[in-house]
Amino acid sequence: MNPRLFFLIFAILIHVPTYLSADDAQYATCGELLQCANIPNIGYPFWGESRPESCGYPGFQLTNCQGDAPIITMERLQFRVLAMDNEAQSLTVARQDMWNQTCPTYLYNTTLDYNLFSYAPNQQNITLLYDCIAIQTQTIPYQFDCNVNSTASISYFTSGTLSLPSIPNNITVCNKSVTVPVNQTSGTALSSSSATVREMEAALGAGFELQWAANNTRCTQCSESGGRCGYNTNTLSFACYCSDQPYPLTCNSAASGMYSLILLVFCGFRSYGFQGADYLFSFFLTIVIPGMKFIQSYKVDLQIPVNLGGLPSSSEAS
Ligand SMILES: *[C@@H]1O[C@H](CO)[C@@H](O)[C@H](O)[C@H]1NC(C)=O
Ligand SMILES: *[C@@H]1O[C@H](CO)[C@@H](O)[C@H](O)[C@H]1NC(C)=O
Ligand SMILES: *[C@@H]1O[C@H](CO)[C@@H](O)[C@H](O)[C@H]1NC(C)=O
Ligand SMILES: *[C@@H]1O[C@H](CO)[C@@H](O)[C@H](O)[C@H]1NC(C)=O
Ligand SMILES: *[C@@H]1O[C@H](CO)[C@@H](O)[C@H](O)[C@H]1NC(C)=O
Ligand SMILES: *[C@@H]1O[C@H](CO)[C@@H](O)[C@H](O)[C@H]1NC(C)=O
Ligand SMILES: *[C@@H]1O[C@H](CO)[C@@H](O)[C@H](O)[C@H]1NC(C)=O
Ligand SMILES: *[C@@H]1O[C@H](CO)[C@@H](O)[C@H](O)[C@H]1NC(C)=O
Repeated sequence: MNPRLFFLIFAILIHVPTYLSADDAQYATCGELLQCANIPNIGYPFWGESRPESCGYPGFQLTNCQGDAPIITMERLQFRVLAMDNEAQSLTVARQDMWNQTCPTYLYNTTLDYNLFSYAPNQQNITLLYDCIAIQTQTIPYQFDCNVNSTASISYFTSGTLSLPSIPNNITVCNKSVTVPVNQTSGTALSSSSATVREMEAALGAGFELQWAANNTRCTQCSESGGRCGYNTNTLSFACYCSDQPYPLTCNSAASGMYSLILLVFCGFRSYGFQGADYLFSFFLTIVIPGMKFIQSYKVDLQIPVNLGGLPSSSEAS
């Protein structure tokens, strides 16, 4: 047998099985969906408990998975996750500090991490007012009592057009206020002058809807290329885990381009009768590409400098 041909076949034989058998560890790990409290099948961008951060996106950690509801934390507030819709990329949450009570220890407005979340349409704010003076001698339906800083005080809630009766002499009626979103149905109901505190508590318990943005577009592209979305905690950027190895954007975006190029050069050389072409090709197959794969598997964040896959690596908004 022609020794050159033998070397070429040998190179292909030792090379191909590494592709067929390779199963990237991250790819496997991130394929495991999380069951957190009462919510099953949780995937990217969420992580927590058994699901490592590299399978999610920062800001999407779920805790309390052994409890009665998953908790997601934003700034100073904890939110109970009541429902999750992966298709719509939306989340129904309720404030944990107002879950079964209307008098939280600390008064905080509802704030989100607006880089990651936005309010879904059809939500409405209600306002809880604390540390107030009595505005009428008889109690009104939207009045309740709270101890604010160990002092018994009157509280009210307002929603939409339902506002407190005006007081003469420009007296400040309440010292503190907190805004909380509720769903539109609840918001409308609570705007009625006959709205009750019980209805307000039910509305807080039913929560409100958020939409998430965690490089959604990239994740869609990665998934469509057969990958699983995640996050590279070294480079602090999106990662696409594929069955052979992780990629920055989509599966094979760099390697398949590299192969095409090498194959092209090889065919070119051969057709011009360049004798070393077979050796050169074999050298790439046995040494260069496995070497690159080896380096990548130990240092996941190594980015192949030339993006030969033809996919733009420009930044995106999502
Ligand atoms: C609210 O529920 C939590 C547990 O979920 C409990 O620890 C707390 O005492 C409850 N608060 C009130 C006011 O019932
Ligand atoms: C909540 O926001 C309102 C309006 O922005 C503000 O007047 C109020 O002081 C805030 N409440 C707290 C507890 O920070
Ligand atoms: C509720 O108030 C917050 C500010 O406290 C605001 O960002 C948000 O857009 C409001 N939501 C609605 C539905 O008006
Ligand atoms: C607001 O707080 C001050 C100081 O704690 C208190 O003197 C005042 O009565 C409070 N105002 C209302 C409307 O309760
Ligand atoms: C409670 O009142 C004390 C003094 O009256 C004050 O120093 C403290 O900041 C208050 N705490 C809150 C949460 O308002
Ligand atoms: C109360 O407000 C009105 C209008 O906003 C103003 O004309 C009046 O001077 C205010 N009164 C006091 C006591 O500040
Ligand atoms: C809105 O909140 C109410 C509780 O006030 C709840 O019964 C209802 O199911 C919620 N609607 C939606 C669409 O979530
Ligand atoms: C998504 O990707 C872009 C481009 O790399 C980045 O600027 C952005 O911060 C990422 N994260 C989110 C939440 O959009």
